[in-house]
Amino acid sequence: MFRNSALKKLGLGCLHAVNLACFLHLFKENVGSPCLTYGPSMLPTFESTGEVAIESIISHRLAPQSLARGELISLKSPINPNRIICKRVIGLPGDTICVDPTGLKASTTEHVSIPKGHIWIAGDNTSCSTDSRDYGPVSVALIRGRIVARVRCFR
Ligand SMILES: *[C@@H]1O[C@H](CO)[C@@H](O)[C@H](O)[C@H]1NC(C)=O
Repeated sequence: MFRNSALKKLGLGCLHAVNLACFLHLFKENVGSPCLTYGPSMLPTFESTGEVAIESIISHRLAPQSLARGELISLKSPINPNRIICKRVIGLPGDTICVDPTGLKASTTEHVSIPKGHIWIAGDNTSCSTDSRDYGPVSVALIRGRIVARVRCFR
């Protein structure tokens, strides 16, 4: 009898833990979550040592058409689908943009028109970023969410 109820408690406890894990996962994948940013590509917006960005997935899901130039987004890397990257939206579908105004990766006279369903993205630190200048326009299907805030940690 005692054994039974102890087992039952354990079972229920596991169930609650699984429930919570599912809830957190669903929340993170559909609503939004804090995520750590690494690397120099978004300097000076984000520090390279790792800063916490608050990503809102739901705002993109609910209004994908309201995406604007200049916004920060999180997206699946077009060259490594296991990586989530953070970049700034430079061009929207139909825009004609200069591939690289800095002349670093392409001649400053080279222009590209962005096809339907695609956007042009770039890192804020142009000298240290792999972005549309390398892989061209990216599909909007890769977008995960918008970066809505940054958490500054005191060191
Ligand atoms: C870009 O990144 C490099 C390497 O971390 C850094 O030295 C440089 O200061 C950065 N540029 C800007 C504008 O933050």
